[in-house]
Amino acid sequence: MPDALSRRDFLASAAVGLAASAAVDIPHAMRPPRPLPPPSRWAARPVVISSGNGLRAVQKAFDMIMQGADTLDAVIEGVKIQELDPKDNSVGYGGLPNADGVVQLDASCMHGPTRRAGAVGCLEGIKTPSEVAKLVLKYTNHIFLVGEGAKKFALSYGFKEEDLLTPESREAWLHWRANLNPNDNYLDLPDTMSVVVQAPTGTINCDAVTPQGDLSSVTTTSGLAWKIPGRVGDSPIVGAGEYCDNDAGAAGSTGRGESNIMVCGGFLTVEHMRRGMKPTDACLETLRRVVTLSEKRLLTADGKPRYQLNFYAINKRGEYGAASLYPSHFAIHDGTQAKLQDTAHLYDTPAAND
Ligand code: GLY
Repeated sequence: MPDALSRRDFLASAAVGLAASAAVDIPHAMRPPRPLPPPSRWAARPVVISSGNGLRAVQKAFDMIMQGADTLDAVIEGVKIQELDPKDNSVGYGGLPNADGVVQLDASCMHGPTRRAGAVGCLEGIKTPSEVAKLVLKYTNHIFLVGEGAKKFALSYGFKEEDLLTPESREAWLHWRANLNPNDNYLDLPDTMSVVVQAPTGTINCDAVTPQGDLSSVTTTSGLAWKIPGRVGDSPIVGAGEYCDNDAGAAGSTGRGESNIMVCGGFLTVEHMRRGMKPTDACLETLRRVVTLSEKRLLTADGKPRYQLNFYAINKRGEYGAASLYPSHFAIHDGTQAKLQDTAHLYDTPAAND
């Protein structure tokens, strides 16, 4: 310890860390919280980034990191707030169901320090798929469990099977089904009720870097609303929905999963950063590739995508950025406060002739 200031810093962070070990109950923690080094020895500016629905996630994860928690434990506990929130109909409990009215959840995560990954797809009846993905990462020699096997695995670790449909998400599904086809056997809804013409997508991604420069990433979703049963999007695909390399950075995505899968967007964005791009530029470059690879039917007459896609990224030093096809926002905690910021974007508005 070089000087008196460092010693004071150290004692203060040690005290915080010790208080944290007692205060934070982290299910299946990667490791117990431990004291932070003094700020003079920090390798990175601690930062947590998330999609626009992740304001509470970045606050929770940042607080945990400053209490000495592991980087993956922090982001998982952050996104669990959305998974458990019945009002977020894009994630976990209350997520919009598939065409059969069944909620099928996808999630993946990566842990920079141990270079491990875990994922679950088409998971039914478990509210927090991000936590199950962490268990796959921590306890198995596999990376990706799906369907019944993923559920059985979760139940074996004490998760409870629950009904994930809320009255609101069931109502939304009934409404979609009633307007599916004028010639089918379902009753049509009154004209006064709006018809869902485009299936909503939603998701939460969260990425963090600690003062020690350790990174992690997680993405969790209920996927595309009214999807064909069995469909998995980008979120549970390591390298697409999220990616993390402890030497370079972490990145993740929300929006139209099929378009992200085509470019392995999480991985590609981290590779752009590895080659020296700033996080925002890395996200924009990945989006340009997405547009280049888009099939004609997904583009308007003047070549603009008919869908939205967003990327979020942080590098090893704690620099961050996010970009979208069309204007959007993201959540960030950069050590000052949790706040929403506008994403950089490729197009100002959807094409007029769309
Ligand atoms: N990005 C979420 C999904 O397409 O499922």
